[in-house]
Amino acid sequence: MDSTIVAAVEKLKSGGVVVLPTETVYGLVANALNGDAVEKIFKIKGRPHNDPLILHVLNKEWLQRFSEYEAYADRVDKIVEKFWPGPVTVVLPKKDIIPDCVTSGLPTVAIRCPRHEIFRKILKLVNFPLAAPSANPFGYVSPTSANQVRQTLGNLVDIIVDGGKCDVGLESTIVDLTSETVKVLRPGAVTAQEISDAIDEPVIDYSSGVVSVNPKCPGQLKQHYCTNTKLVLFEHGGQPDILTEFNGKVAVIFNKRPLDCADDISGENVQGKDVFWFSETGDRYEIARNMFGLLQNLDNAGYDVIFCEKPEIHGLGVAINDRLLRASAKFSSKQNEQASI
Ligand code: TXA
Ligand code: MG
Repeated sequence: MDSTIVAAVEKLKSGGVVVLPTETVYGLVANALNGDAVEKIFKIKGRPHNDPLILHVLNKEWLQRFSEYEAYADRVDKIVEKFWPGPVTVVLPKKDIIPDCVTSGLPTVAIRCPRHEIFRKILKLVNFPLAAPSANPFGYVSPTSANQVRQTLGNLVDIIVDGGKCDVGLESTIVDLTSETVKVLRPGAVTAQEISDAIDEPVIDYSSGVVSVNPKCPGQLKQHYCTNTKLVLFEHGGQPDILTEFNGKVAVIFNKRPLDCADDISGENVQGKDVFWFSETGDRYEIARNMFGLLQNLDNAGYDVIFCEKPEIHGLGVAINDRLLRASAKFSSKQNEQASI
């Protein structure tokens, strides 16, 4: 077996923290049943204790072991059947065996069953659930490659298992199954409509583009995933508003490659600027997969400002827009107002 996997398993069994790939983003991982191990995650990440972690399990049987799911068994069955293993996290009442530090003292626990082969192999080998937030310093861009993790947490964690670039590139969708009507608490890789179709019930959608501080989801801050470089969003299909007298170094990111779009590239607003794109074709899955990686690369490239086109707010675009709004919130009073509604 791969020696890094063996080392990661040993480290987890002895109460340490490692970085593992998942299909959404890389996770900073520890034994969820060991409070001391979980504390190390908060310390390394600089994460406040009122921001609960997700419990990662191997299958439905593990979900049953760690949550009081019975009253919601029908919903659980349908979600597990349709989306697990995969990027949907469910919130259920917790069992006492889960330390309070995992759930920030909440009576509920967020549970997810990842699809990445390496993560699953390690879950089987350790045979305990793993607590894991995204493997970025608190508030910074989420990592979708091992290299992105090395750049930020490389000195703080000694085992980073490289599982390639994440398939999805955006965090899981978080769904509260305990409310009378099921609620999407965080938009993610799977849309509210897909959840609603699977459980055959209405679902309260996370409202498009509106970032609220939801008391049932304390970690959902309006500023998150932030670059250090100033990030300014512009309308989908539009052009950035770059003042002609501005002499700094500017990067412009479009959703798709402005191929043959002489107008785009040579439009007076972007002329002479460095132009990038998340996707060749504008495919939303590709935008999601490339988004955090490109943002972090440009953040390290010495730009004074990064302008970024908003996505179409539809399907996966809701989650992409959510991440970009939060990432840019601290730089714009207008976006701040929007984000605080
Ligand atoms: O895709 C993902 O979900 C990734 C990978 C690593 O699995 N994980 C991830 O974790 O995004 P993190 O810590 O960055 O976000 C977890 C969020 C918390 O900030 C909080 O909003 C929500 O999950 N959460 C956790 N427990 C909760 C609970 N009991 N009730 C409501 N929300 C909860
Ligand atoms: Mg995170």
